[in-house]
Amino acid sequence: VRAKLLGLPGSLRSNSNSLAVLRGLQDALPAGVSMDIRDLRLPLYDQDIDNPDAPAEVHALRQAIAEADGVVIVTPEYNYGMPGVLKNALDWASRPYGKSALIGKPVLVISSSPAFTGGVRAHQQVNDTLLALPARLTAGPQVVIGGVADKIKDGKLADEAVLKFSLGAIDRMLATK
Ligand code: FNR
Repeated sequence: VRAKLLGLPGSLRSNSNSLAVLRGLQDALPAGVSMDIRDLRLPLYDQDIDNPDAPAEVHALRQAIAEADGVVIVTPEYNYGMPGVLKNALDWASRPYGKSALIGKPVLVISSSPAFTGGVRAHQQVNDTLLALPARLTAGPQVVIGGVADKIKDGKLADEAVLKFSLGAIDRMLATK
């Protein structure tokens, strides 16, 4: 398979575990598959600034999604849910209504947390939001990474078993493309 992926971390901080998961995956992708990583630093969603024309950084996000063969979202869990940063970005990406770049787009959701629960509640929320579009969610075993802090080395996910499991999910995503 030749494919260009877009990686979206649900956290803005530079030392983010979510970003480290994406960086580890980026390095581990099979030949022919590449991934750009974009941060989700965007203004708060406001229909007044979405119409008639959204801000440039929103256009750039929508464009990057449109051009990707698949999107990999890595979300942390904030207070039993997805971070506002990620929900905000998904709300921007969900518009224009009926023409969102996410409609029919293959998406893989991964959650991670230093806790052993792995952000599974945030994972579920992201899935629900994507079903509203609808994006093409990747079915099969959910990638939920508990104890993530111990699985990162030098700013990258470095746990072989988790990398292998996640790459399997990326394969499944691309198989439905
Ligand atoms: C957290 N954290 C957290 N973890 C978790 O497993 N369940 C939770 O409900 C929460 N709630 C929560 C709220 C807020 C406001 C913060 C800042 C943090 C801890 C969280 O998993 C941890 O800070 C991660 O490192 C955040 O992800 P990044 O920034 O490393 O990608």
